[in-house]
Amino acid sequence: MLMRNGLLVLFALSFGVMAKSENAVALNILVYGATGKVGSHVVDEALRRGHNVTAVSRDPSRIKFQHPNLRAVQGDLLDSASIAKLAVNQDVIIVSVRGGKSKTPESALQRVAVEKVVDVLRTMGDSAPRLIHVGGAGSLVVKPGVLYADELRKGPMPKWLEVEIQGQILALEYLRTVTDVKWSYATPPKNFTNGQRTGKFRIGGDKLMEDDSGKSTISRADFAVALIDEAENAEHMNKRFSVAY
Ligand SMILES: NC(=O)c1ccc[n+]([C@@H]2O[C@H](COP(=O)([O-])OP(=O)(O)OC[C@H]3O[C@@H](n4cnc5c(N)ncnc54)[C@H](OP(=O)(O)O)[C@@H]3O)[C@@H](O)[C@H]2O)c1
Repeated sequence: MLMRNGLLVLFALSFGVMAKSENAVALNILVYGATGKVGSHVVDEALRRGHNVTAVSRDPSRIKFQHPNLRAVQGDLLDSASIAKLAVNQDVIIVSVRGGKSKTPESALQRVAVEKVVDVLRTMGDSAPRLIHVGGAGSLVVKPGVLYADELRKGPMPKWLEVEIQGQILALEYLRTVTDVKWSYATPPKNFTNGQRTGKFRIGGDKLMEDDSGKSTISRADFAVALIDEAENAEHMNKRFSVAY
């Protein structure tokens, strides 16, 4: 699909149909978590850049976006057949989900979901889309040998959050064993904010990033910019990257 769209764009450019400043390639992007706090910004950002978005919810009537390039569909990440159906003709799958009543990190939604998606992508060969998974800051390194999750454990925390944090660490560990499918693990900083889209942020790796005042934040809108940048440019293939101001 990418190549086909790319050729179309080259054709259009050579006849002056499309301004060079417009998006070079319209991607087909499948977004799990489209009704969520982060995922809704991802849908918004992808549409704003001219991509074709398939927004997934277990109840698609809850998807409030309306746009000619948007399709709202029913889907469940715990259902492999449903993933396989929706993955066809997609260039990128973005997974930004939380929830469920898992009692252990091994059964946390994010840990289970990445493996289910990878298993489906393995069956698709060269036509498989890339996976971009929204991970957790608990997996970031605060000092040698210490994860942010280790620091969080010292304070009180609801059980569901502890399961999610550890589940997200396991999701990263699992993905790092995967070499036959294209994936990226996008890691937020300590805190999301409802701030504006600025387009200005830093991209890092395993280390937790803090700004000059010691804050580790990003607005959900800017995090979405980083995700769609990654969808377009594939700069962190089979790697984790982190995003923060
Ligand atoms: N600092 C941090 O590290 C940090 C902080 C916050 C969040 N996060 C991460 O960011 C991601 C998104 O968080 P959020 O705050 O945007 O979550 P949210 O607002 O609670 O949204 C959760 C989304 O998950 C979807 N979902 C749940 N179960 C699903 C399933 N079985 N199949 C498909 N979709 C399912 C829901 O969709 P439907 O109900 O419509 O199906 C909903 O859109 C999560 O991975 C979370 O761990 C990280």
